[in-house]
Amino acid sequence: MGTKSLCLFIASVLIAYYIYTPMPENFEDRWKLMLITAVFRTVEHLAGFAERLGLMHYMEALMLITVAEYVPPTSDENVTVTDTEFSNVPVRLYLPRKQSSGLKRGMVYFHGGGWCVGGAGMKSYDLLSRQTSNQLNAVVVSVNYRLAPKYHFPVQFEDAYSVTKFFLQGSVLSQYGVDPNRICVAGDSAGGNLAAAVAQQVYVKLCSKQVHLQNVLCV
Ligand SMILES: *[C@@H]1O[C@H](CO)[C@@H](O)[C@H](O)[C@H]1NC(C)=O
Repeated sequence: MGTKSLCLFIASVLIAYYIYTPMPENFEDRWKLMLITAVFRTVEHLAGFAERLGLMHYMEALMLITVAEYVPPTSDENVTVTDTEFSNVPVRLYLPRKQSSGLKRGMVYFHGGGWCVGGAGMKSYDLLSRQTSNQLNAVVVSVNYRLAPKYHFPVQFEDAYSVTKFFLQGSVLSQYGVDPNRICVAGDSAGGNLAAAVAQQVYVKLCSKQVHLQNVLCV
């Protein structure tokens, strides 16, 4: 074996080792998932490297993914998409276009990203909200809460909560044709954390005191 083939062989083994992540056999698209995991790992390594070189903060480097993944609000045949503000917090709003006889569902969504990165305008979140809006006939409010390190706790939570509170007003719900009994909060990762906190705060502050929430079911 020549030196070149030996180097190629070693490089292939190392790349395979880097990409391979053990996963249960029954996972769909295992290789796709491994590749995505490897891409994320690479970005993390590069971000750590950039920080050690003094080029930028680790989180600033990760933020580049959010920027690279940004898509503008674009309506399609099923959903009208706009960027707007609820209670001074930027949100991306998805309104189903389908004519339905009854009221629509409502969902307030919080993206993930460790409270530091991510955004409603990222391609993956935009697609998720769009599909949710279309398939569930739901008005989706995807929240661009302010991010760390510029803004610290509890600003992220306050933004998440004030958007939810704004949306739950009777006048806003009727403006968008949303059924007060069919609203949820949701999120992934850090967004799941925010959704859980918002759900508890809505219960404590709004439901238990019965203020401003005519018709919203509090169970
Ligand atoms: C619109 O909705 C239909 C039915 O759910 C779906 O088949 C179609 O792909 C959607 N269009 C877009 C642009 O997502």
